[in-house]
Amino acid sequence: MNLDDIYRETILDHNQAPRYFGHLAHPTQVVGMLNPTCGDQIQLELLVHDGVIEDIRFSGQGCSISMASASMLMEAVIGRPVSEALDLAKNFKLFVTGGTSSVALGDLESLHGVSQFPSRVKCATLAHNALEKAFAEPQESP
Ligand code: FES
Repeated sequence: MNLDDIYRETILDHNQAPRYFGHLAHPTQVVGMLNPTCGDQIQLELLVHDGVIEDIRFSGQGCSISMASASMLMEAVIGRPVSEALDLAKNFKLFVTGGTSSVALGDLESLHGVSQFPSRVKCATLAHNALEKAFAEPQESP
């Protein structure tokens, strides 16, 4: 099995069995993000305390790249400080547009091929854009 096969398997695995898909009972933040090019949307629910993402879920629908990428992002940011999660999102967006990430991306690295397909970048970054939105706008207390 070569590296491309491993990447393909990883994407398939997250798509078939998405991690942290669903809803939280008491999220501190809920944010939606639309991919305007296809109409697909994703929703993130976060439980943040003392600047740490203690729990996270996503829901919605989209293509296999958007769902796999969201699943990988959930796994990458759960339990991490918000600042690190946002840094990871920023670096991933750089990574899938042909740049180099300065942080370890874990399974998200399997999406490196997206950089060759600019139309799929919005799919791969849908959840990452939602995460950034969650902390870019003032949120109401639950
Ligand atoms: Fe809609 Fe990928 S085609 S998110």
